[in-house]
Amino acid sequence: MYATSIRGTFARIAVEPGQPGRVIKVLIPETLDRMSRRDAESLALHQAELIRNYRNLLIDIGVPVTGSHNVRVSVDEKRIFLIEVMEMGATLEISQKLVSKIISMILPLMRGGVGVAVDLDPGNFVEVNGRIVYCDFFPARFRQEDGMWLLGFPQPPAGEYEWTLKRYTTPIGMMRRLRFQLARETGNDWTKVLLAMLPTDLRKEVKDFFLNLPEWKIKISHPGSMGRRIIRQLEDPDDVRDVAARLRGHFPRGMLREVMKLTRVDFRLSSPERREKIEDAKRLLVEGLK
Ligand SMILES: Nc1ncnc2c1ncn2[C@@H]1O[C@H](COP(=O)(O)OP(=O)(O)O)[C@@H](O)[C@H]1O
Ligand SMILES: [Mg+2]
Repeated sequence: MYATSIRGTFARIAVEPGQPGRVIKVLIPETLDRMSRRDAESLALHQAELIRNYRNLLIDIGVPVTGSHNVRVSVDEKRIFLIEVMEMGATLEISQKLVSKIISMILPLMRGGVGVAVDLDPGNFVEVNGRIVYCDFFPARFRQEDGMWLLGFPQPPAGEYEWTLKRYTTPIGMMRRLRFQLARETGNDWTKVLLAMLPTDLRKEVKDFFLNLPEWKIKISHPGSMGRRIIRQLEDPDDVRDVAARLRGHFPRGMLREVMKLTRVDFRLSSPERREKIEDAKRLLVEGLK
């Protein structure tokens, strides 16, 4: 639709035509296109409301966010669009300083009780006028009045709700996501650095978790048959991702990206479809180690 657009997980993102300081995100176009007009319109209106509420909740608890924000449903003869516009920030270079700033920004969320979660991908933070701000408001992730959290789009199935809740709302889940994204972007292991950045009250729990991960059983210089055996036993997509990141030096270029795609927790797919993809990712890794 827009020549310069990039494809996000749920959105096409582009600089707004004629508005160089703003980005436009066309959200869940494929999902809306597949629905009847009526259903698409009511889903889009509902999601627009959730996005507004979510961003306001982030502001309430003091997380800086991109400004000039507007989300609306736009309708033409053929299609229903869910359109989000916001100010455009500058991409940030990953550094320890940046990561430590991000951690201090989201400390209240990690300590719990605020009922709001963010996606701890460093790419979701950009710089506006020298300030670091959060820019990813879809899907909305917050606790509703009935106590149930919104955790994704679509919501995780009942059997995966608790797992997803841990992934987005606990120090372990949040730090794990951050650690993986950092490893992916920089090629380095950030375990020690991240632990050192955590305040002492959160550190022990996260440290115990990190140090007991299956990835450490694999010798990085000679992963060989032990590596293959451990990879075959993995079930959790995050375990697969972390092992892939740790062994990246053994794999051809581009394979980490492929593994990342296959292990994405995308609730638009059924659980069996997702499990199948995780198996594909494991196969790629096992074969890559030969
Ligand atoms: N307001 C913005 N300013 C600058 N870059 C942005 C902005 N919003 C998004 N981006 C860039 O586009 C990427 C993807 O956008 P995002 O909304 O996080 O979608 P998703 O994570 O679902 O793919 C971000 O990681 C960031 O690099
Ligand atoms: Mg994002």
